[in-house]
Amino acid sequence: MRKITAVERQREIFIRGAAGIRPVIPADPVLLAGKARLQMKPEAWAYIAGGAGQEQTMVANHSGFNRWKIIPRMLRDVSMRDISTTLLGHTLPAPLFLAPIGVLEMAHPSADRAVAAAAGSLGVPYVFSNQASFPMEETAAVMGNTPRFFQLYWSQSDDLVVSFLERAKACGCTGIVVTLDTTMLGWRARDIDFAALPFLKGMGIAQYTSDPVFQQIMETPDPVPQAKPQITLEAIRTLIQATRRHPGNFWTNLKTGAGLRAVRTFIRIYSRPNITWKDLPFLRKHTDLPIILKGVLHPDDARKALDYGVDAVYVSNHGGRQVDGALSAIEALPGIVEAIRQKVPVLIDSGFRGGADVFKALALGATAVGIGRPYCYALALDGQAGVADLLANWMADLELTMGLAGCKNLEEIRTCELASA
Ligand code: FNR
Ligand code: LAC
Repeated sequence: MRKITAVERQREIFIRGAAGIRPVIPADPVLLAGKARLQMKPEAWAYIAGGAGQEQTMVANHSGFNRWKIIPRMLRDVSMRDISTTLLGHTLPAPLFLAPIGVLEMAHPSADRAVAAAAGSLGVPYVFSNQASFPMEETAAVMGNTPRFFQLYWSQSDDLVVSFLERAKACGCTGIVVTLDTTMLGWRARDIDFAALPFLKGMGIAQYTSDPVFQQIMETPDPVPQAKPQITLEAIRTLIQATRRHPGNFWTNLKTGAGLRAVRTFIRIYSRPNITWKDLPFLRKHTDLPIILKGVLHPDDARKALDYGVDAVYVSNHGGRQVDGALSAIEALPGIVEAIRQKVPVLIDSGFRGGADVFKALALGATAVGIGRPYCYALALDGQAGVADLLANWMADLELTMGLAGCKNLEEIRTCELASA
């Protein structure tokens, strides 16, 4: 496994620069997104970059960081710097992990597999999305011993939930991240205007189509027959795409209609908006893996999570994709940290774009930070190598920000006071 140090990383970049080789992955997050946009189809860009409604939550996710400022301290001997940490029993090279992101095939054909291989090459944990483009077994296989987690969307089918939990454990996942904020997809204006949803083309449903329980459900008749779409050229193209993505032989799938049936079955059972706290013991009963609740923003929900015995809380507003006009994750963090009283780890994502953002979250009491869209952009630009470069850059940035602020390790960041702006 490659170990990253900030000085080495800078040296590597500048030495290549002296030979005329510029980095493929821009260090500036805005340039990174802009460069990736040029590489992607407009619908793919809309899906990945977009958020709910007027995208005010996305704006808040960035501006929220300005509420706090780092106050660098001087003359503290920061020659030895260590950004390693522990999370749920794992030793990690940095307080970073890759957040679950669905439909990565929109960014790059190697999708989750490339991300997993990059994560594995640096020992950075990866949370497999429930809406992944490759089955979890395939992504797990390229990660070596690097920790991995499975993110669950609670389906209408309890049997499918149990099957996902069992598969996650079997492929070495050491935690279940239950995403609570997406019992339905948010009102995403960009996708609405393209009238495009990747799942309908059979994208992002690989965890389902590879699942024996799902395959059985697919063969049971749909209780509510769905309206037949108009037969247009685009409808035929969608049918072909869904058929091609379905496992097995294309012609057999076309003849049996398996691709379309998989999409329809997915649509029918994906969403479970009636889940409540009372359903959580079901998960506990069916898995002995740590349970992490993703999407917690209110301190009362954090306290409730403790009452239900969860193993970690994950502060997130889904990158502003679900509720427009919501509180930023970083602004929600102090209230959650206070409610959790160090009983369980507090993870966070939504709007993080570099080392200073991570520093602030750690100083406010977070245990680890999830990287979201930036790794999709790196994936779009340069596949596995792009994601590995991005991770190396984030580690270097965090290490330098930490040292230059006068802290040698994460413990010192955690006791470091921020100025409130
Ligand atoms: C997501 N996110 C997400 N979360 C989840 O629990 N399961 C999923 O399948 C997905 N899928 C997904 C797709 C895309 C394209 C995006 C951008 C995001 C949310 C993700 O885990 C994370 O919360 C956000 O990406 C964090 O916000 P930033 O850092 O991307 O702004
Ligand atoms: C999304 C779902 C897949 O945010 O979580 O698009």
